[in-house]
Amino acid sequence: MNPIPWRLLPDSAEIVGGRLFIGGMDVLALAERFETPLFVYDEEQMRARCREAVAAFGDGVAYATKAFLTTAMARLAYEEGMRLDVATGGELFVALQADVPADRLVLHGNNKSTKELQEAFDAGVGQIVVDSSVEVDRIEALVAAGAPPPDVLVRITPGIEAHTHEYLQTGIADSKFGFGVASGDAGAALERIGASSGMNLVGVHAHIGSQVFDGESYRRAVAVLAEFVVPFDLPEFSIGGGLGVPYVTGEDAPSITEWADIVTEACRVAGIKSHVTAEPGRSIVADAAVTLYTVGTIKKIPGIRTYVAVDGGMSDNPRPSLYGSGYEAFLPRAADAERPVRVRIVGKHCESGDVIIAEADVPEGLGVGDVLATPVTGAYGHSMGSNYNMIRRPPVVFVRDGTAREVVRRETYEDLVRRDV
Ligand code: LLP
Repeated sequence: MNPIPWRLLPDSAEIVGGRLFIGGMDVLALAERFETPLFVYDEEQMRARCREAVAAFGDGVAYATKAFLTTAMARLAYEEGMRLDVATGGELFVALQADVPADRLVLHGNNKSTKELQEAFDAGVGQIVVDSSVEVDRIEALVAAGAPPPDVLVRITPGIEAHTHEYLQTGIADSKFGFGVASGDAGAALERIGASSGMNLVGVHAHIGSQVFDGESYRRAVAVLAEFVVPFDLPEFSIGGGLGVPYVTGEDAPSITEWADIVTEACRVAGIKSHVTAEPGRSIVADAAVTLYTVGTIKKIPGIRTYVAVDGGMSDNPRPSLYGSGYEAFLPRAADAERPVRVRIVGKHCESGDVIIAEADVPEGLGVGDVLATPVTGAYGHSMGSNYNMIRRPPVVFVRDGTAREVVRRETYEDLVRRDV
């Protein structure tokens, strides 16, 4: 039958005495110590993925912090040699709080406010990825007022349809991001920015979407972008992020190294001589984590289905309800067990759409009180989490070499009223 595919679990996963260990730590003991819901991250795996990205793309490759950001994560990516992509003043603040040097930060965003740009200038952010002509105006005004001209990349929207969820596509012509190729905006922006004394044009950037599995989308994007990258012959060309990650049985994706090979080869074919770089988020962190829940209620509706309700839900993982994303589940007390039973795993929010796995395969004997795990929850879960129903957001624990390090504590009830005035 179908035990949980081992490749969906963190690299360090092993079964010891019938129980699942990650990073040398007994997962059920972690659930007891930190309570559930709980995010458990394999720290060495994230470090290894960062090192793989740096080896594959060279210096300059950035971790897209939107995927998962805490001060510990910012420091980890920096320590392993990555730059950090921050897309808001808030992400910038967290990276600076983590003592990441500002020159290792790249500021993104389709609507950077003057205040955010000012904050980036004040901090000394290394690069800004310019997204619109209004932003060019804002930067020029700040420089006219005394700020030093920043190094910038121009974000170009190549008009490529990556095979992914509509909400995750960003490179198509009908997009809120960047300067479009089809409209002629991309060429005009490069001319204007190249001639501006308010900024130093150092490169071209594109991001075609997220959770992209096929290398072909990247090849097509590079072919379109070469038209702009080659004649301007700028030092840097960033293909953005978006490399897909398997979440469920049967999915397959290129590794970071394979992705880099596809992109650099496409650039070579297209005659791009710039240093080719990227900004992966999901592929650095997604499969490093599992979320642990405790089963609270089980409701059997004869002839229809069985609902298994856990103690979290759309507040720690909104991806199923937002994008219809699929996940798998298993029991850490029987991690290699067959999963012959079909159930629907739901959260505890007051909403029917609060589904974690619509059609989950689980082992026989799953019962109330069991700790249930969902793998591949390291990206866009914690970072997109909410307080809906005043659920306290879960803690984050990094495990490595037989030790567990709590890097984010569980929210308290007091936290829930901290901002109330
Ligand atoms: N660079 C830019 C400019 C981006 O907009 C993104 C993601 C990335 C890099 C990193 O992409 P990644 O390697 O993580 O796919 N919330 C959605 C994903 C939204 C991605 C937004 N931008 C999800 O949960 O699937």
